[in-house]
Amino acid sequence: MLFDDTFDRYDPSQAILYVYDVWKAYDSVSALNGISLYVKKGEILGLIGPNGSGKTTTIKIILGLLKKDRGIVNVLGYDIDKEPFKYKQFIGYVPEAAVIPEYLTAYEFLYYFGRIRAVPENVLKDKIEGFMKLLGLIDKKKELIVSLSKGMKQKLIFLSSLICEPKLLLLDEPFIGIDPEGQYEIKSILKGLSEKGCSILLSTHLLDFAERFCDRVAIINKGKNIATGDLEHLKQRVSLGEDTTLEQIFLTLTKDQPGVKDNRMVEEKERRRF
Ligand SMILES: Nc1ncnc2c1ncn2[C@@H]1O[C@H](COP(=O)(O)OP(=O)(O)OP(=O)(O)O)[C@@H](O)[C@H]1O
Ligand SMILES: [Mg+2]
Repeated sequence: MLFDDTFDRYDPSQAILYVYDVWKAYDSVSALNGISLYVKKGEILGLIGPNGSGKTTTIKIILGLLKKDRGIVNVLGYDIDKEPFKYKQFIGYVPEAAVIPEYLTAYEFLYYFGRIRAVPENVLKDKIEGFMKLLGLIDKKKELIVSLSKGMKQKLIFLSSLICEPKLLLLDEPFIGIDPEGQYEIKSILKGLSEKGCSILLSTHLLDFAERFCDRVAIINKGKNIATGDLEHLKQRVSLGEDTTLEQIFLTLTKDQPGVKDNRMVEEKERRRF
């Protein structure tokens, strides 16, 4: 079992999301092997890892879309096993592969989502129009989703995740198919939300982006953390020098190259804490 490297600096009372030693197998496939992470209020945590390393599985378990085999998940103080519903009203989610009702117009989709998420009707219209303007979709308001481009659909899905004013955003590769201007706008929106106290867990393969944008990064491989922390901390893990990029750290750690400091001391230290 490996815990977050920066756990020494962790104050549980500050955690909006707390995932501890979570395991999950799909029949014979072992997807998560003791993953642990936390996200503080207003923090952006990047979740990075090779294909199949367990990012989507982790996010779905936090949402309650999949059942974990073992471990603890706590969201806003709710243990999701004991209180499986209440916490969900505070979460916004962008799935990796969203199913979107293409027979609705762009506006109807956000309206429908807003009503499901109990947004009062009297504020919903202005909210949707404001959102659509932000991402350049206002001209598409009355168009059927089936006639929108892939990136436009992805922008709509992103907006749907914000409609309930989430305290925790779970974004599973949210930038796929979105043009540079849209990505820029989304990044500005996310930064603004985090400054207002929204916590964000974001899975991505865009390492340059993760390096610049996230407060901390959890690198996972084969269903468990191999390193977690801010860039300075991660640099120390690989000892490749001051100019080391997240990409170099990622490639080094996921290839188990020499130079990686041994995790066992961290594991042992955490084991003794519990
Ligand atoms: N429904 C499923 N049934 C069986 N195995 C699954 C299922 N979903 C995921 N897996 C397996 O679980 C492991 C983790 O998959 P997961 O989708 O969480 O990875 P990921 O890190 O999100 O990958 P990617 O970067 O490709 O999105 C993989 O070995 C995958 O094959
Ligand atoms: Mg995935």
